[in-house]
Amino acid sequence: MSVPEEARALVREARRVVVLTGAGISAESGIPTFRDAQTGLWARFEAEQLATEDAFRGDPATVWGWYLWRTGIEAAAQPNAAHRAVADLGQRVHVDVVTQNVDTLHERAGSRGVLHLHGSLTAFRCADCGQPHVGGVEAPGSPRVIEPPTCPLCGGRIRPGVVWFGEPLPHRTLSAAVDACTRADVVLVVGTSGLVHPAASLPGLASEEGIPTIEVNPEETVLSSSMTYAVRAPAALALPLLVRD
Ligand code: OAD
Repeated sequence: MSVPEEARALVREARRVVVLTGAGISAESGIPTFRDAQTGLWARFEAEQLATEDAFRGDPATVWGWYLWRTGIEAAAQPNAAHRAVADLGQRVHVDVVTQNVDTLHERAGSRGVLHLHGSLTAFRCADCGQPHVGGVEAPGSPRVIEPPTCPLCGGRIRPGVVWFGEPLPHRTLSAAVDACTRADVVLVVGTSGLVHPAASLPGLASEEGIPTIEVNPEETVLSSSMTYAVRAPAALALPLLVRD
């Protein structure tokens, strides 16, 4: 595996860097990606059908149990060398981390001000009145059917703080991400299939401004052909090399 010297130079000379991440950056921390044929969360549990408000309203215990199981996996996972490389880069230059991931691995590696386009798994709130849930939740070791707790204020059901299919992205977070991507000196696109919009449109906005883009992904994606450089390697291997001073 080699990282093009030109790509390394772009990062080394940049003063503002955006790192747009997807599930692939957390794969080496042991969190299955969404669309991996063997282990993907989608493949095993048809998550695309679970991750909607209709699914939650129709069968809250199945959806809640599935999200609690994921909460347990993510709590046990540790940041890997890729998350740490991004955080280290943030010590040297301005880095905006824009992630589609609902875990906290970027923060736990030391990145600050992470823009979570798809929300955060553990930002539990009432599905009816929207109030944050203050009580703790206990994560099971395997997906189980569990009734969600109820809101002490209105009796509604507590839901995970993620963006479900059909729901809008948090407006301020998305506009901060657009702003960052169109002002950066370079945009790194790490571990995303590029299939879910509007997140997948962000690298294109950077390109329209003439900003170089570098993909880090062991597989080719729908975004690859429009990237300035593509590094075909796992993130935990490639990112430390790419951002090394
Ligand atoms: P996907 O599961 O669609 O794609 C994961 C990508 O990571 C693939 O392109 C893999 O090739 C790549 N990958 C796997 N291992 C890797 C590694 N070690 N290093 C680098 N890349 C690796 O995940 P996302 O693109 O994040 O949204 O999916 C986007 C959104 O789809 C998710 O945020 C989720 C889902 O619907 C919501 O839940 C709203």
